[in-house]
Amino acid sequence: MADRSQSSEGTSGAVIMPRHVAIIMDGNGRWAAERGLPRTLGHRSGVDAVRRTVQAAIDLKIPYITLYSFSSENWSRPQGEIDDLMGLMKRFIRCDLAELHQNNVRVMVIGERDNIDAEMRALIDEACELTRQNTRLTLVIAFNYGARGEITRAARRIAEDVAAGRLAPTDITSEHLSDALDTGGVPDPELLIRTSGERRLSNFLLWQCAYTEFVFLDAYWPDFGRELLLEAITQYRARERRFGGLARRSTA
Ligand code: IPE
Ligand code: IPE
Ligand code: MG
Repeated sequence: MADRSQSSEGTSGAVIMPRHVAIIMDGNGRWAAERGLPRTLGHRSGVDAVRRTVQAAIDLKIPYITLYSFSSENWSRPQGEIDDLMGLMKRFIRCDLAELHQNNVRVMVIGERDNIDAEMRALIDEACELTRQNTRLTLVIAFNYGARGEITRAARRIAEDVAAGRLAPTDITSEHLSDALDTGGVPDPELLIRTSGERRLSNFLLWQCAYTEFVFLDAYWPDFGRELLLEAITQYRARERRFGGLARRSTA
């Protein structure tokens, strides 16, 4: 189980890099529309922003990043756009997997696997299997992901343990739930970034973000990269995380 008790503060009290940054990559369509381009070109430019972000996370020694790439609600988009997004995800794995592996990046995919096509499932399995032992950065891709679905599946798994007599209902702890989620073993994000000026979670990491700091940026996702990541981290560092306690100056 991951050590969730360790905060992002060093022993000196100085805030170091967040261990886990989660990002809602939003605004591809508006980025394209502003340029008179079809939405699909916005998504294509979004993949370049993904590459820049992964590189920046490696350079900045951030051990975990989670990218929201396709939500369980995104199936309600026009079929043509869904096909474009599926094609880009497949191409990303095909083109980038070898380099990610070379860079010692572990790929993890969270979300529902049952209702995706066999080719996609095989690519995802290959990416996760090949990079399973890598240690430099864990790149968590939230694909066909919705937090309510994830929590429901976790509850089902725990209920199966109870029904089989492996677990008593009174012994269920929040750690059981954390571990039964798709993110089991991954520390909760300290920082969540959403681009495009929208200020909502859109069914992303509802359980894991209980004490996460949120940074909302107006920039559209295709314009994201190292600089905006650093800007978000600067905002995060200026926050005081109290976890229900008192402000530092109140305890002096
Ligand atoms: C984010 O950009 C990509 C996905 C949700 C897959 P959008 O496609 O949501 O872009 P906007 O929000 O319409 O600008
Ligand atoms: C959230 O963005 C999902 C992803 C970024 C993959 P959406 O664009 O789908 O969210 P809403 O519809 O604006 O809430
Ligand atoms: Mg959007």
